[in-house]
Amino acid sequence: MEEELINLKNTAVSFILEAEDLDSLEATRAQFLGRNGKLTLLIKDIPKLPKEKRPAIGKLTNEIKVILEDTLSQALEKLKAQKTKSVHEKIDPTAPGIKPNIGHLHPMSQVLYDVVDVFKEIGFQAADGPEIETDYYNFEALNIPKDHPARDTQQTLYLDIANAKVNPGEIILRTQTSAMQGRVMEKTQPPLRVIVPGKNFRYEQVDASHGFEFWQVEGFMVDTNVRLTDLFGTIDYVLRKLMGQEIKLKFATTNFPFVEPGVDTYMECTVCKGKGCSFCKFAGWSEIMPAGMIHPNVLKAVGYDSQKVTGFAFAIGLSRLVTLRYKMDDLRLLTNPDLRIINQF
Ligand code: DAH
Repeated sequence: MEEELINLKNTAVSFILEAEDLDSLEATRAQFLGRNGKLTLLIKDIPKLPKEKRPAIGKLTNEIKVILEDTLSQALEKLKAQKTKSVHEKIDPTAPGIKPNIGHLHPMSQVLYDVVDVFKEIGFQAADGPEIETDYYNFEALNIPKDHPARDTQQTLYLDIANAKVNPGEIILRTQTSAMQGRVMEKTQPPLRVIVPGKNFRYEQVDASHGFEFWQVEGFMVDTNVRLTDLFGTIDYVLRKLMGQEIKLKFATTNFPFVEPGVDTYMECTVCKGKGCSFCKFAGWSEIMPAGMIHPNVLKAVGYDSQKVTGFAFAIGLSRLVTLRYKMDDLRLLTNPDLRIINQF
């Protein structure tokens, strides 16, 4: 009988602890302590036991009864508390809500969308191209043959081609979105007006105004009788639309192998208002949009008749445009994922 009692206690305790709601707890109570419960029936049988055994069994039975009642009342409290908590959570209409974080476009995307919109208004289409590029489109087609010194300025990152069937040095990370000039022009006949926003990569020393990856928006227009004045007008119109009519611009000559003549566009530094700061390298001006008239060799490489059509090309340093627009003094802020920075724009 003793063993039977102890087994019964163990079973009852585990049932009580496993009860998941008030109903199953009540069922367990009835099963063991109810009028016809297992323990109750055993207690009723005590008088039938031999006289000498009754005191010990009676004592054990009482102890078990107390244990079960204690365990039951603790379980009851716990389940009741859980119930009020879940009811409270479900129906309390006055509880403050959890505010979801509302996202917004990254400053880079905001400016990029503006750039695309402004160019669309004046008839440019946007194209997208590969970041992994061939030497041909990135250099050769742009009048930069293998031995050209201009290659030195482009800090090119070459890809490991150990398992590819191409010559070493042929596959690179594009260093300039100008690489898309050849890709687009060899498939399209003039007249054409195209912009190509995209990321470029160079093995560069990173500082406040240089990154190893940076965004450009390349643009080019080819038609009959496109002149240098068309290029100046386009740059002036686009930059004032994007940065405000009051900005100060100046042009200077420069050299890129794929344009002749080459033009550099400078905008007065918005960070220091021309006074000179670390962002503009104390020049008071920031180089923002190199450009030029497309070199006849580039037109010939895509099969155009350079006697019949002319064109201009330009590149907007998008990362720089963003920092100038928002007066950030460090380009690296644009790739910093810290929301405390991004949420300021
Ligand atoms: N691709 C040149 C670079 O990243 C920039 C550039 C200069 C693009 C003159 C042009 C251009 O289209 O006409 O260094």
